[in-house]
Amino acid sequence: MERLLTGLQPSGTLTIGNYCGGINQICKYQETYETFLFVPDMHAITVPQDPEQLHKNIRQAVGLYLACGVDASLDNMHIYIQSENPYHANLSWILECHSYYGELARMHQFKMKSKNNESFTAGLVTYPVLMAADILLYDAKYVPTGVDQKQHVELARNLAERMNSRYQEECFVVPEPMIPEVGAKIRDLANPLNKMSKSADNPKASVFLMDTPEEIKKKIMRATTDSDGKIAFDEENKPGVSNLLTIYSVFAGVSLDDTVARFDGGGYGDLKKAVAEVLAERLTVFQDKYAEIMKSGIVDDALDRGGEYARQIAAEKYEKIRKIVGFGRI
Ligand code: TYM
Repeated sequence: MERLLTGLQPSGTLTIGNYCGGINQICKYQETYETFLFVPDMHAITVPQDPEQLHKNIRQAVGLYLACGVDASLDNMHIYIQSENPYHANLSWILECHSYYGELARMHQFKMKSKNNESFTAGLVTYPVLMAADILLYDAKYVPTGVDQKQHVELARNLAERMNSRYQEECFVVPEPMIPEVGAKIRDLANPLNKMSKSADNPKASVFLMDTPEEIKKKIMRATTDSDGKIAFDEENKPGVSNLLTIYSVFAGVSLDDTVARFDGGGYGDLKKAVAEVLAERLTVFQDKYAEIMKSGIVDDALDRGGEYARQIAAEKYEKIRKIVGFGRI
């Protein structure tokens, strides 16, 4: 089985954007690939976090993966926490020494997050290298993500190719981003030019997987659209309406074309109502499952099993790379 790997930062409660770019793709492909799904808690501290809240977010993230349909009982599913495996940071150091400061400083996300912030951490610059280590440690072939992470996966590809050619040996499998056709960039409800984010300044602009039907309805009904009044999918000129159509398509399980046809000729109010309804219905199902999961011991069972397996694979790879770069004794 080829390997697929992804992670979702526990820097807040997961949003419907995280579902579309990450979790939904895992659910779709979990029977096809050996799947490594982890909680990148080490990534979360590139910006300040409250330690108590971080612990809670980590557990909640795993509960939500499972509630949304990730099947922990599959033999080929490995769920684990990044910080419980020291090889991520170890490999990251080696990869940092094969990365150029210039290529890291050019990353879109770094530029965005460091803008107007003179005291950003060194971790914010090197973060994509740690992400490359996350991927390359397991020889993952496919990396499901939203479009915002594509550039980071490309860095992982470049580093794999660079190491393979520098040491004249197959150090790593060269990974590929797996971006969904629909839902690769769910947009901020207030400013649809931005992506929806779990750590946005305005929490009313994001729908979180734990939101109540009332919260969902309020947020969706207030979503920014445009003054044109016509329902059409046109991301450039009608980002707000296109976003609502996309959310409906993913959560109702209807193709984008059929979604557009369904609402064609109607008003924005009807579209918003339908989006709020379908979201409330799906998220309530997830939340009911989540409540059951959190009462059971399934989160810790999955993490214990996944963690042990992941450490084994990572240790083998790290030992191989250590030797290749010349560390330690002959
Ligand atoms: P993170 O935590 O920001 O997002 C988790 C996943 O959700 C996707 N995503 C979105 N997709 C569609 N619309 C949106 N508005 C939206 N917002 C987020 C992201 O693309 C991602 O797939 N650096 C990563 C975490 C990470 C990782 C990895 C991912 C660390 N190591 C290795 C893959 C492989 C991040 O910050 O994602």
